[in-house]
Amino acid sequence: MADVEAVLDAAGITNPRVREYVQQYAELTGAERVEVVSAADDERLIQEALEAGELQPAGKGRYYSRSYHKDTARSEERTVVATNDPKDKGVYNNWKPASEMKPLLHEKMKGASAGKTMYVIPYLMAPAGNALAPWGVGVELTDNRPVVLHMIRMARVGVQYVNDLEDPNQFVRAVHVTGDLPNLGQGTDDDQRWFVTVADERTILHYGSSYGGNALLGKIAHGLRQAAYDGWVSKKFLGEQYMLIGIKDKETGKTYHVTGGFPSASGKTNLAMMLPPDALGDRYEVYFYGDDIAWLWVDEKTGKLMAMNPENGVFGVAKDTNETTNPTALGSIDENSEAIFTNVAYNPTTQEVWWEGRTKNPPADVTGWEDWRGHLISERTEAQKNDPWAHPNSRFTTTLSKVPNIAPDWDEAAGVPVDAIIFGGRTRDREPLIRAITDVAEGVYDGLTLGAEATFAAEGTEGVLRYDPMSNRPFMAYGEGEYARHYLDIINAADEKPLFAHVNWFQRGEDGRFLWPGYRDNLRPLLWLMQLKNGEVEGVQTPVGILPKKEELNLEGLEIDADDLDAVLRIDNARWQQEISHRTEHLEQFPNLPEEIWEAHNRVKAALEAD
Ligand code: GDP
Ligand code: PGA
Ligand code: MN
Ligand code: MN
Repeated sequence: MADVEAVLDAAGITNPRVREYVQQYAELTGAERVEVVSAADDERLIQEALEAGELQPAGKGRYYSRSYHKDTARSEERTVVATNDPKDKGVYNNWKPASEMKPLLHEKMKGASAGKTMYVIPYLMAPAGNALAPWGVGVELTDNRPVVLHMIRMARVGVQYVNDLEDPNQFVRAVHVTGDLPNLGQGTDDDQRWFVTVADERTILHYGSSYGGNALLGKIAHGLRQAAYDGWVSKKFLGEQYMLIGIKDKETGKTYHVTGGFPSASGKTNLAMMLPPDALGDRYEVYFYGDDIAWLWVDEKTGKLMAMNPENGVFGVAKDTNETTNPTALGSIDENSEAIFTNVAYNPTTQEVWWEGRTKNPPADVTGWEDWRGHLISERTEAQKNDPWAHPNSRFTTTLSKVPNIAPDWDEAAGVPVDAIIFGGRTRDREPLIRAITDVAEGVYDGLTLGAEATFAAEGTEGVLRYDPMSNRPFMAYGEGEYARHYLDIINAADEKPLFAHVNWFQRGEDGRFLWPGYRDNLRPLLWLMQLKNGEVEGVQTPVGILPKKEELNLEGLEIDADDLDAVLRIDNARWQQEISHRTEHLEQFPNLPEEIWEAHNRVKAALEAD
């Protein structure tokens, strides 16, 4: 049994509440050793992980890891928000009583780290000094070294973040215990995994996974679920699954800031890393602030709606990342980037990695290549021949400082003012390329009725449409009606309201191909949106928002079939009226939905019927 006091003394952890917490869980989990880590330990921990075979080298200054084959995505059905107040139950938060879940998780964690090291990771989810930084302090405890290495990339990690807190108790207790992965019954009736955020106690208890959002607790459990709850209780902020970018017009010198939510695996990271199309590159620049999480608040002095990314890194989807779709992403995972790849294909002899869409065809010489499970490609049977080499949810992890288009002020305390909030999902039809919404309640209503096809990032059936309010369905922390109220209150408190918009890069033709080229060309509709905000274009008013006139879009250098372009700039009224009836059902699930939202719904419905 570890001498925890001595370890904490040596690491310089003086916060008495943190010390008690570490002591408590070291005892409960039965860890053999306790080790406090900060970002400076990365190099040593990487070496240890390589020696232990937890990582393998992927060329110079890059690493490869595999997760257990039944542990490759977030598990929403095993994820729970627990509190002491049944009124916190929502439709999507899988609410359970704290009095039930805490003992259950403690029981699972009991002795479960025997023989292992428990790493203590003090972290900050926020740029240091930011107005919301007090809500971003946490300490993750984990018995898994690769999780530590991911946390060091994804969050600001160091002892300084937990000492000298104004309130020594204001930190999130985030406990991660891996469990015996081959014996957890993943996906069966006897599933042993639980991922619980005890929101009103600011305690996160995750058991039974070492993958991504299930295990990097600063990111999703704290950065989204806990933050959403904290923002509501404090009435101060929103914690959202949003990307955040700056678009600089070099001709006028003005930078616009756009934030917005797309469900997992629907294009946030690619949009944030977007390089302008070649033809527009002289005039515009896109800056990366964040690709997965934004916290939004109103600055008390200026009255402006502000946003910041609480993360320190990118956990990006590997699939289809290549020189054409996303050269910036490739730049961020270059040699010596210290990036970690998870569940892509790997060649131990050449130390190369590969994933579907990296190149048009997989490496012609399959010698040495292993798929994401570690099976040799050369030994595949006829039946396995067409299986993907990489897992569809395989990822790369890299730090923001390595992202080529990182904004110059990304780490500054102030955050950035928000010009527009956009929502988008993968929708095959109905949703045009972009529609702008000027009314706040209609914008919030639009977010609440965001729908997308299920994606491989969350367990579910690909291709089935499901509603995903604000892209927060898996991260909802309290009732949706209260959430809508709080969202409206935050936005309405700003002196200048953001413009809202709904975008869709994924409309398909009857033959199944994407009608819009996407990726870098997604800058074009966003430039139109900024022009609309400036009154430089007027668009066409439709029942569901303002659409660009074809001639208002900057199409310089764009290759697109004229019919396809028409198709993505069109509203199919009948199809929309059908959708509206689904929306009525969707919204009726939420008690206490603000009247403004119903009014917005009824306005859109009436406008469609009159059209
Ligand atoms: P995120 O999970 O929301 O951050 O989504 P990503 O940016 O990682 O993208 C998820 C998947 O969608 C990747 O395989 C991307 O290559 C693909 N993708 C992203 N943007 C576009 C786009 O504009 N068009 C098309 N067709 N695919 C895209
Ligand atoms: P994603 O982020 O939105 O880029 O997929 C990770 C996640 O949501 O689990
Ligand atoms: Mn996400
Ligand atoms: Mn992403």
